[in-house]
Amino acid sequence: MTRVLGIETSCDETSAAVLEGAGDTVAQHSLVILSQDVHRVFGGVVPEIASRAHLTAIVPVVERALADAGIAGRELDAIAVTNAPGLVGALLVGVSYAKSLAFALDVPVIGVHHMEGHLFATALEHAAAVPPFTALLVSGGHTMLVDVPAWGRYRLLGRTRDDAAGEAFDKVAKLLGLPYPGGPHVERVAAGADAGPFRFARPMLRRNQQPDDPDYYDFSFSGLKTAVLNAVKSSTLDTDGASIARAFQDALIDTLVEKTARAAQEHGRDRVVLGGGVACNKTLVRAMRERCERFGAQVFAPSARLATDNAAMIARAGLYHFERGERSALDLNAYASQPLPGLVAA
Ligand code: KG4
Ligand code: ZN
Repeated sequence: MTRVLGIETSCDETSAAVLEGAGDTVAQHSLVILSQDVHRVFGGVVPEIASRAHLTAIVPVVERALADAGIAGRELDAIAVTNAPGLVGALLVGVSYAKSLAFALDVPVIGVHHMEGHLFATALEHAAAVPPFTALLVSGGHTMLVDVPAWGRYRLLGRTRDDAAGEAFDKVAKLLGLPYPGGPHVERVAAGADAGPFRFARPMLRRNQQPDDPDYYDFSFSGLKTAVLNAVKSSTLDTDGASIARAFQDALIDTLVEKTARAAQEHGRDRVVLGGGVACNKTLVRAMRERCERFGAQVFAPSARLATDNAAMIARAGLYHFERGERSALDLNAYASQPLPGLVAA
């Protein structure tokens, strides 16, 4: 059994977690997530403020994760830390702290790609959410459709060509005068509404698309956002805002669901794993379940704590790499963007 401390500081959550396990049998002993509320007043994450907030939070957050787990630092076997992609200043706080602690405890440090962490998150709650599966990762910064034949082997099928799905939710929320982050608010407002006179084209989704078409699996949400803007400008009724939210969410979800179903069917997968903050959207999860049940695939979605940024998923991915004998050197650095490790040809 291996005990891993995970650390995540890539955006606006300072998080630490302790887990213990071997292979796909893993027990999560603790998970602490400190969300930086300060960005709300700016309507988006301010990188410099995020770095400073990580600096003040990192020590107590890690200490709390160890205390909650009832594990002393010297009982750890490894420290996993997100080192890409993300805000470099924010990442550096976690990376520097993880390296120092690893050096002090004389244990290895393992750099983890944030999106690989998201791929592992659902497995912490659902024993069957393990490869082979089709993954849809939808967060504020990323939208990726990935075929996962095995851990560590990732076929990137599609990605967004402009805005990420969560970013689209946040921008549309802003257009509708809803608070940041907008996803949960758009979902709440849309839930009570009928799309009424509003209907938006499903972005990048055409009936006659073929698997070889470059846009078969790709996403694009900036056109949808512009369509929402035009609808907001032309709206006259008090209830139009809710109808627009509903029509926007319907269009976005249709695209996500249809492309994920395509990917699963083309690759013969009977498991679909969702991840990232937008996976908190119950309407998306329900629509995905309904669509995938039609061809016999099971859909796994993480709980809100594991869907959004957290250190448990980083520790889980770190454990996988640790078991394969992989270690990072103490010159491990932080990178704003980096390809997912283990990419195989599509
Ligand atoms: O994964 P995450 O916590 O952070 C990033 O790595 O970006 O995702 C945050 C994103 C935000 O854009 C937020 O609006 C969106 O997830 N989100 C949602 C919902 N809850 C969070 N989007 C749609 N519906 C939700 N219920
Ligand atoms: Zn994330």
